[in-house]
Amino acid sequence: QDPSGARRFDLEIQSGAVAFKDGRETETWGVNGAFLGPTLRAKRGEEVAFAVRNSLDEGTSIHWHGMHLPAVMDGGPHQEVAPGGDWAPQWMINQPAATLWYHPHPHGRTGNHVYRGLAGMFIVDDDESDGLNLPKTYGVDDVPMIVQDRKLDGDNQFDDNGSFMSMQGLLGDQVFVNGTLGPYLDVSTRLVRLRLLNGSVSRLYNFGFDDDRPFSLIATDGGLLPSASETDRLQLSPGERAEIVVGFEPGETAVLRSYPADEGYSGPLGRVNGADDTLDICEFRAAESLTDTTAIPETMGAAPDLADTEPAEERSFSLSGFNQINGESMDLQRIDFGVREGSVEVWEVANADGFLHNFHVHDVQFQVLDVDGEEPPARLRGWKDTVQLVPQRKYRLAMRFTDYTDPNLPYMYHCHILAHEDAGMMGQFVVL
Ligand code: C2O
Ligand code: CU
Ligand code: CU
Repeated sequence: QDPSGARRFDLEIQSGAVAFKDGRETETWGVNGAFLGPTLRAKRGEEVAFAVRNSLDEGTSIHWHGMHLPAVMDGGPHQEVAPGGDWAPQWMINQPAATLWYHPHPHGRTGNHVYRGLAGMFIVDDDESDGLNLPKTYGVDDVPMIVQDRKLDGDNQFDDNGSFMSMQGLLGDQVFVNGTLGPYLDVSTRLVRLRLLNGSVSRLYNFGFDDDRPFSLIATDGGLLPSASETDRLQLSPGERAEIVVGFEPGETAVLRSYPADEGYSGPLGRVNGADDTLDICEFRAAESLTDTTAIPETMGAAPDLADTEPAEERSFSLSGFNQINGESMDLQRIDFGVREGSVEVWEVANADGFLHNFHVHDVQFQVLDVDGEEPPARLRGWKDTVQLVPQRKYRLAMRFTDYTDPNLPYMYHCHILAHEDAGMMGQFVVL
């Protein structure tokens, strides 16, 4: 806490080295450490204040992905921190409990900076979720999982050259969870809550267990679902999060994997983009005796409620090539449009290509109204800030812009496949 009563965080962006394998150490970047960054946590209603120091020898930024906050605090390409420079964003947390994350967002270099290791989770709590009987002992039965694929070269360095480029950019064959290769988790409770983040630059994951056991989806990007939904597979594209609760039996072992994509994304273009890959993510080793935890509550978060609101504006967006939205590439000087504070808008977003895109909007959480006119699948029925765009499908997203107006500083919307974002598949809007 600082004198003003804000919860204070000191973050230093730095370079380092980690011994992932025998032989040479891998050169990495991290926040307050060699690789990745600490989990940040704050509660709705709290003021948060950051002292960010960039100790790298190039400019970067920290963007608070999924956070509702003033544009000047957003940490996008307009808030780059110079080498050796400082940045002190501050705002009041005002959104439901959710699993958010932070990562750099420098113009044209986001993919490179995330790949080197700049990323961390940002957990938001609120009174409602504190009162629910969900697994919540951090690191024991409430476990963050930042899932990222990378490739190591013969010298143990992160390989980011083009030899394994696909339409989506870098695809790695090594899976890191929270910065660890070949991870496992000792399980001591019957139910475990996993906060899954696809922190990869380009890979889509289709999570599932090796024995196809069912698990409960309890939260999407923007927070808890009204009620849990059961499934045995869960697709997350880069930038998306989900919370799941999975049950274990005493003494057993289970492996969380990524399976070939199961929705609208296969064939030759899917194959070269990793959609047919199977990867082991993490092994779970249950103790001989497990602590009992209660069942998942019947009701949890608030349901998205924008479907019946008459939108003030409808807009359409078509993503095509590697670098264009509505035929234009990102230009830091061009503000694409302004939205009215307090209004609800519906954005129709189409993937005009035969390969994967997704769509992320800063500052807001949106409701997926429909996919090609049909009711969205269960995993898209909660609040979202990033949505996978299956090739040739159209998604109608409803969102409300509240609180922060700034005629000059924009928020971003973009494809979160970072090679596409960096190539210019991004636009800017202001809230007026
Ligand atoms: Cu996760 Cu514009 O970012
Ligand atoms: Cu974001
Ligand atoms: Cu894309």
